[in-house]
Amino acid sequence: MAVNGSLVGRRAFITGGASGIGRACAVRLAEAGADVVVVDRDADAALAAAAEVGGTAVAADLSDLDAVDRLDLAVDILVNNAGLQHVAPLHEFPADRFSYILRLMLEAPFRLVRGALPHMYERGWGRVVNISSIHGLRASAYKSAYVTAKHGLEGLSKVIALEGAEHGVTSNCVNPAYVRTPLVEGQIADQAKAHGLSEDQVVEQVMLAPAAIKRLIEPDEVAETVAWLCSPSAASVTGTSLVMDGGWSAH
Ligand SMILES: NC(=O)c1ccc[n+]([C@@H]2O[C@H](COP(=O)([O-])OP(=O)(O)OC[C@H]3O[C@@H](n4cnc5c(N)ncnc54)[C@H](O)[C@@H]3O)[C@@H](O)[C@H]2O)c1
Repeated sequence: MAVNGSLVGRRAFITGGASGIGRACAVRLAEAGADVVVVDRDADAALAAAAEVGGTAVAADLSDLDAVDRLDLAVDILVNNAGLQHVAPLHEFPADRFSYILRLMLEAPFRLVRGALPHMYERGWGRVVNISSIHGLRASAYKSAYVTAKHGLEGLSKVIALEGAEHGVTSNCVNPAYVRTPLVEGQIADQAKAHGLSEDQVVEQVMLAPAAIKRLIEPDEVAETVAWLCSPSAASVTGTSLVMDGGWSAH
């Protein structure tokens, strides 16, 4: 557990920090004392989230890699979280959507890490936390871009761990199964329509089918893991993936 106050003096940059898991991370890291920067393409929601935690809002579309390179990356903690889903069979998957998802969920994290590491190296301390997914380790049909991006993020995270170690920088992935956020609420509604099921049936029969623990994960649970990875007791944890999947991958 991240002791409150243990992150005083640390600046935390959270992509997609205006909603869902990112927002929960903003709250939790601020509680631990970090100075939080909420980065999101939704400018109003970013302002609201930043105001809630006494932090700073930055409006940016992270799929625009030139815009990513212009961001102020003098930060000690980088949470690569912004992401979205697109569901379609491979033979119909729109090519521009595939590129967009890889840009946002893999190339932007690379650019952000590249920009942030010099500051972290200079201070001899840094924490990179990549919000991957159970889909960083397992595939599901119809999610080609998402699964590809998350598997790539797993590789990037391990390379950061190897290069960063001598500079006091750790890098890890957090791998949740379904978390109760607007992203998932949208999928529940879409799948209910597609399968002719009620929303409760989609959650129970589709989303939670592979999991042993039959409930959605709460954003706070993911944020607690992120905070722990930034805490002194996780200083030796690097290059790994912390799975929070209710037993999905135990099969
Ligand atoms: N919800 C889940 O079940 C779940 C499970 C595993 C992993 N994840 C991962 O967690 C992360 C956050 O997901 P969430 O469920 O909290 O989603 P969410 O939709 O609640 O929040 C995502 C945030 O990212 C922002 N964003 C999207 N595109 C952006 C862009 N181009 N530039 C800047 N910001 C952008 C959105 O505005 C939003 O505020 C994603 O990487 C997702 O893949 C989610």
